[in-house]
Amino acid sequence: MKKITIAIDGFSSTGKSTVAKQLAKALGYVYVDSGAMYRAVTFYAMRNGFIDKDCFDKEGLISQLDNINISFKFNAEKGFAEVYLNGENVEQDIRSLEVSNFVSPVATVSQVRQQLVKQQQIFGKDKGVVMDGRDIGTVVFPEAELKLFMTASAEKRAQRRYDELLERGDEVSYDDVLNNVQSRDHIDSTRKDSPLTMADDAIKVDNSSMNLEEQFKFVLKLSEEKIREINA
Ligand code: DC
Repeated sequence: MKKITIAIDGFSSTGKSTVAKQLAKALGYVYVDSGAMYRAVTFYAMRNGFIDKDCFDKEGLISQLDNINISFKFNAEKGFAEVYLNGENVEQDIRSLEVSNFVSPVATVSQVRQQLVKQQQIFGKDKGVVMDGRDIGTVVFPEAELKLFMTASAEKRAQRRYDELLERGDEVSYDDVLNNVQSRDHIDSTRKDSPLTMADDAIKVDNSSMNLEEQFKFVLKLSEEKIREINA
């Protein structure tokens, strides 16, 4: 049976990773969270003093790119692959609001994008991959057989992210989360290199009024139809 590549793009906190994980599990495919890779680079930049609220030393970060190794290791208990930065599990660290606040500027740096895109293409070279991000269907895998573009209102997305952060025990306000979501939308869709846009051949999935199960059934059906078509 031939495998396909599934590219899932969309604004932040649209539930891309939730549905991507579910799909990968149901199809027996590999799931790659490309946003986690940008977050890991951002975490590295924060730790090494290249970015804080007053400055972003882009050149300094670029000079260190060869020293940043990002990998994924499957965690059977959690049922997905966690991200490692130079051998250290940083899955928890990269999900903080602080990293969320710095990640979009880091993701505008072309040298960072080139390095991560190259690695993402290697992860997907044998197909059978579900990858989520902002430029997967447009830049990383323009030939992907199935492209989904997820959307939902900013308020709905902020509420989901706020609930997640509270559950982790982070002290945040809903307004700060909403500001972060809106400012990332803006930076992600207006940056020069690989802005977030819907590929011409992507299918738009607005999940503002879908629950997780409805959303999963909908995308699973699309995936199964595409796999059947490719194998016919
Ligand atoms: O999906 P996420 O929220 O974890 O992604 C974090 C940030 O990384 C997001 O604001 C934009 C950037 N990103 C990107 O530019 N390209 C990708 N393929 C994935 C994420």
